[in-house]
Amino acid sequence: MSHIRRLRRLRSSDSIRRLVSRANLSPDRFVLPVFVADGITEEEPLPSMPGHFHWPSERVGVIAKEAESLSIPGLLIFGVTGNKDDEASQAFAKDGPAQRAISEAKSAAPGLVVFADTCLCGYTSHGHCGIVSGEEITNDPTLEVLARTAVSQAEAGADFVAPSDMMDGRVGAIRRALDESNLGTAGIMAYSAKYASAMYGPFRDVADCAPRFGDRKSYQIDPGSRAQGISSIERDIDEGADIVMVKPALPYLDVITEARRRFDVPIAAYNVSGEYAMVKAASEKGWVDGEKAALENLTSIIRAGADIVITYHAIEAAAWLSR
Ligand code: PBG
Ligand code: ZN
Repeated sequence: MSHIRRLRRLRSSDSIRRLVSRANLSPDRFVLPVFVADGITEEEPLPSMPGHFHWPSERVGVIAKEAESLSIPGLLIFGVTGNKDDEASQAFAKDGPAQRAISEAKSAAPGLVVFADTCLCGYTSHGHCGIVSGEEITNDPTLEVLARTAVSQAEAGADFVAPSDMMDGRVGAIRRALDESNLGTAGIMAYSAKYASAMYGPFRDVADCAPRFGDRKSYQIDPGSRAQGISSIERDIDEGADIVMVKPALPYLDVITEARRRFDVPIAAYNVSGEYAMVKAASEKGWVDGEKAALENLTSIIRAGADIVITYHAIEAAAWLSR
């Protein structure tokens, strides 16, 4: 009789490994972030986000159809504008870059789920996610503008609005505004456990939304606190969020797992720009195998308990997985 516990039996072939894997990575889980910019007529490559572009709103159908052809079920739209002011007027303008892109994406690929990032930082002259008074990023005055933005995005055809500002009470305010505007079928994916992270660097560059003074620590969660992430998720579910999010993903896998254990709602994890850029940069230098590293990262996010992974790898990963 053998006294060796042979764990390697379950690792001995690709077939048995696939049978016993519990984190089946599939494009069904992916949402692709897309940047749409006003003032351009052709897509422009983004050096800090290799493989990604600023899209003119009228051309978003191209990327929407590509995502659809790879079985990626959703897009997350970010508007980028040079037309900034203190009221974030382009955030809720009927013909703002995001609004035009949302209707373009819906008409090009009606079956895709279109998520719209709902925030003000790309549209305010100071680059903060809220309405500013002096040096203070105000809470309650911001809610009205966010609600107005969400309504305009849902009117343009967004299936889900995705508030990423981290003001208190925004989910409830947005839910009420949508319902009052007869947009009861539009859902909310809340950036609930959103941490004050260094991983947003490339995004702030390409979305031109870095704060012009101070930082975002008075509204985004301190990296040291899991509890605040969990209470923020719980609060957002109470206020009517359909989907909750943990962001970034990889440095916060414990938050994803804890949320999975506690809450029976869909959980999204955002594999953010810095996480993507680190893989791309190291792989360009030949220091890691970019494909293996990306797939391992995505697998870990699913294994931690996420249902949805928002990732800049979506297009390439879907292609790798279908080989
Ligand atoms: C803006 C917003 C940010 C991201 C999504 N929405 C940046 C920030 O909060 O500073 C980050 C996404 C990424 O890094 O990929 N509210
Ligand atoms: Zn913001």
